[in-house]
Amino acid sequence: MNEAARNQLLTKMLPVPNNDRARIEGDWDDLQGFSSEARYGGLENAMSYVRNAWYVAVWSHEIKTETPFAMAILGERVVIWRTASGALHALEDRCVHRLAPMSLGRCEGEHIRCMYHGMLFNPDGRVVEIPGQDIISKQARVQRYAVVERHSWIWIWMEPRAGG
Ligand code: FES
Repeated sequence: MNEAARNQLLTKMLPVPNNDRARIEGDWDDLQGFSSEARYGGLENAMSYVRNAWYVAVWSHEIKTETPFAMAILGERVVIWRTASGALHALEDRCVHRLAPMSLGRCEGEHIRCMYHGMLFNPDGRVVEIPGQDIISKQARVQRYAVVERHSWIWIWMEPRAGG
C-alpha cells in the first residue's frame, strides 16, 4: 500500500461523532470500494505464493506413460500425465463435477477421464464428454498448467493458463 492510500485509510478510520451517521455511512461506502491491498495493508499479497515462476514438480522418471501422477504444489492439488506420444499435461486434480481426484482416473489418448462418473477432460481442462449427456457447458472445466521437461525434471508454471 502506498503512503497516500495508507493516509487515506487512516483518515477514514479516525473516530467520528456518533451522531454523524451520514458521514459514517459515506465513509463505509468509500472503504468498500478500496482494493483488498488497501483494506488489509498488502498482507494478502505478502502471504501469497509467487505464481509467475517455474517450479520443479517431479523427477522425469517418476511420470510413467499414461499413468496419472498426483502431487501438491503451492497448496494446490495437481495431476500430471504423459501421453503415449510423449506429451506432458497438467491439470487441477479436482474434477469439476464432484471434486473427485482426477489422478484416480484413466488416460485416454491425450485426454484424462474421471472415473467417478466418467467425464472426459482434454489437456486444456475442458470437459469434452459426459456419459449420457449431449450438452456440455463451457464452464465445465478445470485449471490447466504449463509443464515442460528439462534436465531430468518436470517443471510446472503455477499461473493457470488461459483457456483452462
Ligand atoms: S466426480 Fe468426476 S465425473 Fe463426477
